[in-house]
Order: sequence, then structure tokens, then C-alpha cells
Amino acid sequence: MRLQQTLSHAGLVVAVAFVAALGAGMAVAAGPAKAQEVKLQGLRGGTPLNRDNPPTASHQERDHAVSDRDFVQQPPLIPHTTAGYQITRNFNKCMDCHAWQKTKTSGATKVSVTHFRNREGQELDNVSPRRYFCTQCHVAQTDAKPLVENTFQRARGLQ
Ligand code: HEC
Ligand code: HEC
Repeated sequence: MRLQQTLSHAGLVVAVAFVAALGAGMAVAAGPAKAQEVKLQGLRGGTPLNRDNPPTASHQERDHAVSDRDFVQQPPLIPHTTAGYQITRNFNKCMDCHAWQKTKTSGATKVSVTHFRNREGQELDNVSPRRYFCTQCHVAQTDAKPLVENTFQRARGLQ
């Protein structure tokens, strides 16, 4: 998890660098505007993966009650471990418990009705392909330390 975060962080820095480079290119194309010096710095400073800050092992939190949401459209966080839960083309472990017919016995929340709609707004008779890979949006929590400080405030309607 920590490694993933670190890698995606590196991705972000690259993306920022790319956008900045694009911006610089456009400024040149637009005319004689002074070329601005762009100073890039990773959020944590330094190279994300070096000997000074190696990724440490982190563990998924134990199963707990569902978490409060921070904004209305938030994909709810996964309140249980997902170790070993596979999602492949032919098999989706999450649906073993979250499919509507399975929730009676599993006690899990039914997969949201919005997940049956395709991008054209058409209602399907099963989970839409764009909602198939659950962990694209729903994430389990780990005990990893936050990489950077965070001042995010919960939406007022949910406080
Ligand atoms: C063995 C059964 C089982 C499997 C497999 C399973 N879940 Fe769950 N899930 C549950 C149960 C039980 C709850 C808790 C419901 C409660 O406490 O109200 C839950 C809760 C959740 C919630 C919180 C819903 C909310 O309203 O906050 C999410 C999100 C979720 N699971 C996603 C997943 C994803 C994604 C996978 C696959 C990687 C998965 N689950 C696999 C049983 C399962
Ligand atoms: C593209 C992002 C995305 C994907 C992929 C996705 N979800 Fe969700 N999910 C959401 C969002 C956003 C919400 C909250 C708003 C809503 O209900 O649409 C949600 C809500 C839920 C809920 C709570 C429903 C409720 O009534 O409170 C469950 C359970 C859930 N998803 C399970 C799943 C499972 C299982 C999968 C995989 C089959 C999945 N989701 C795939 C974004 C996603």
C-alpha cells in the first residue's frame, strides 16, 4: 500500500512536470512573453524512492463498522480487509457478498443502484463494466502514515 502510494505520488510529480512543460511550451508559442522559471518540487521533497525514505510495510486495518463519508458522492471506504480478493474478467470476489442476491446471507451493503448504469445512462441488468473493478474507487485502509499533511474538512452537510 505504502509502495503504491509512493509510486502514484511519483506519477503525480511526473504529471505536474508534464503539464508545466506544456504550459512553458504554450507560453513560447504565444509570443515574446518572458519565459518563467518553473521550480518543481515533490510534495515530500527529494526523490520518492531513495535510501533515505524507503517504503515501510503497512497493514490493512482490521474489519470495522462502516466509515462515515466525507462528501456525499464519495465511494465509501472498504471497512474490511481485501487481502486475496481477486477481481478478474471472469470472477469478482466482491460480488460474492455485495451482489443483491448475496447480501441476504453475507450481511454486506448492496452494490449501489448507480453501478448498473452505463455511461450513456442506460440501466443494465448487471453491474456496468465501468463499475466492475471495484477497487478502482473503493479502497481499504492501511496503517500507513500520511505522506503529506492534509487539511481536508468534511462536507458541511455531513458534519
Ligand atoms: C465475505 C464477504 C465480503 C466480501 C468478499 C467483500 N465484502 Fe465488502 N462488505 C462486507 C460486509 C459484511 C460489509 C459491512 C456491512 C456493514 O457493516 O454494514 C462490507 C462493507 C463494504 C463497504 C462499505 C459500504 C458502506 O456503505 O460504507 C464497501 C465499500 C465494500 N464492502 C467494498 C468491497 C469491495 C470493493 C470488495 C472486493 C474487493 C468487498 N467489499 C468484498 C462483506 C464483504
Ligand atoms: C468508478 C467508481 C466506482 C467503482 C468502479 C465502483 N464503485 Fe461502488 N460506489 C462508488 C460511488 C461514487 C458510490 C457512492 C455513490 C453511489 O451510490 O453511487 C459507491 C457506492 C457503493 C456502495 C454503497 C451503496 C449504498 O447503498 O450505500 C457499495 C456497497 C459499493 N459501491 C460497492 C461496489 C462494488 C462491490 C463495486 C465493484 C463491483 C463497486 N462498488 C465499484 C464508486 C464506484
